[in-house]
Amino acid sequence: LSLLAAGCAAEQAEEPPVPDAWGEPAVVPDRNPDPRIVEVDLEAREAEKAYLEGTTTTVWAYNGTVPGPLIEANVGDTLIVHFKNSLPEETTIHWHGVRVPNEMDGVMAVQEPIAPGETFTYQFTLRDAGFYWFHPHVMEPEQIQKGLFGLIRVRGPNEPEADVEKIAVLGDVFLNKDGTFNEELDDDTIMMGREGNVVLVNGEVMPALDVQPGGLTRLRIVNVANGRFFNLALPGHTFRVIGTDGGLIPQPYDTERLLVSPGERYDVLLIADGEPGTELTLMNEAYERGHHTGLAEPMPLARVRIGEGPGLSGRTLPETGPAIERLPGGPAEATITFDEGYVDGKLTFTIDGKAFPDVPPIDVQEGSVHVYDLKNDAEMDHPFHLHGFFFQVLARDDVPVADEELANKDTVILPQRSTVRIVTRFDEPGMWMYHCHILEHTERGMMGEIHVE
Ligand code: C2O
Ligand code: CU
Repeated sequence: LSLLAAGCAAEQAEEPPVPDAWGEPAVVPDRNPDPRIVEVDLEAREAEKAYLEGTTTTVWAYNGTVPGPLIEANVGDTLIVHFKNSLPEETTIHWHGVRVPNEMDGVMAVQEPIAPGETFTYQFTLRDAGFYWFHPHVMEPEQIQKGLFGLIRVRGPNEPEADVEKIAVLGDVFLNKDGTFNEELDDDTIMMGREGNVVLVNGEVMPALDVQPGGLTRLRIVNVANGRFFNLALPGHTFRVIGTDGGLIPQPYDTERLLVSPGERYDVLLIADGEPGTELTLMNEAYERGHHTGLAEPMPLARVRIGEGPGLSGRTLPETGPAIERLPGGPAEATITFDEGYVDGKLTFTIDGKAFPDVPPIDVQEGSVHVYDLKNDAEMDHPFHLHGFFFQVLARDDVPVADEELANKDTVILPQRSTVRIVTRFDEPGMWMYHCHILEHTERGMMGEIHVE
C-alpha cells in the first residue's frame, strides 16, 4: 500500500498489479505518404483499463489507450488530425505548447465544442522541435482525469544522441475500490487540485524502465495530472536537463531533483550507474507547495532496471545545446496577480481579483514584446500556462535569473507569495488563454485572455 498516495480520505484501493514493462505510448499511424505531412485519425471514446487488480475502470481515451497515443513528426511537418468525438459529451482538442493558428487552439473562444458523434479536422505546421501534449479544453478536470491526453514528439535536426529514448507520462487517478472514478469534490480537493490515490507513470503503477549500465538514457517527461506536482529523484543519480516545454535549451544543467508541475515538460539525460541486474527506484520526493504540504513522504514511482546491455556506447553528456533567441528584458509594464479566496461563500481562484470570465482581457499588438510580473499572492504554488506563445523567465522576486536558465517555456510554477517576471513576443493574432494548470483552479476562475491584434 506504500504505492498509494498517503493522507487520502477515500478508502484505500487494492494493491495494483505490477507490470513488467514501461508501457510506451502507441504511435498513431501516419496515413499520408508525403514525408512532410503527418496525417492521423484520432477518436475520443470510452475504453476499459485495469488500474487495480481485479477491477476495470471505464476511461475516456484517444484511440482507446491511456496514456493516449504518440504523434511522431519532424519540425516543419504539417500535422493533419481527423478527430471524431465518440464520447457522450462535447469536447475539443487543445495542443498544449504547440504554436498553432488561433482557430486551431481548441478553446471555447475560438471553436464550437465538438458534439457527440461529430468530427473536426485540426491542421497546422509544427514550428518547433520538442515534446508536447494534447487534451480537451472543455470540462478539463473531468475529461483529462478520465484519460483524455496524448503526446506529440517533434524532432529537430540536432537531436542529442542517446542509447535509449523513453517517455515518462506522470499522472494519477482517484479511484474507488471497485475501480470507478471517485468524483467527490470538496473545497480541500479543489484547493489542492484533485490528487489521485493511484499514482501512475505511463498509465501504470511502478512500471519498470530498462536501461544499460553506463549508457545514456533520454527521458521525455510530462505531467498530465490535474493537480499533483512531481519532484523526481533517482537516488545516487543526477539528471542532466537538456530541454523543457519549448524544446532543447542552450545550457544544459544538472539536478538531483526535478520538480514538474501539471502541464510542464522536461527532457533529461541520465547515466545509470550500477552493476547489471541492479534495480533502482525512481522516487517522488517530499516537497511543499505553500501552507499545504504537497507530499509529506517520499513515494516510489517506477523501477529502473540496469540490464546486461550491449555495453558502453561511449556517448557522453552534452555540455551545450542549440542557441535560442533571447527576448529583450526590461522592467515589467504590468503586474498580473493570482490569488484565492471565498467569493459569496464559494472557493474561487482569481486573477486581479476577478474570476473567469470576468477577468478583463489584455490587449496587445501583433508582433509586440511584453514583460509582465506574475504575482502569486496565494498560500500555494500555481503553475501558470500561456497558450499560443512561449515565454522566457527574466526574474524571480526581482532577482534576475541566471543566464543558464534561458529556456522557452509555456508553463512555469509561480511559488506561493512570490513574483515571476516573464517576457513574450505575441506574434500570432487571436484570442489566447492563460491560466493556472491545476485544472480545478482553471475551472474555478483562474483563467484570462490575451487579445493579439
Ligand atoms: Cu494544457 Cu489551457 O492547457
Ligand atoms: Cu492554481
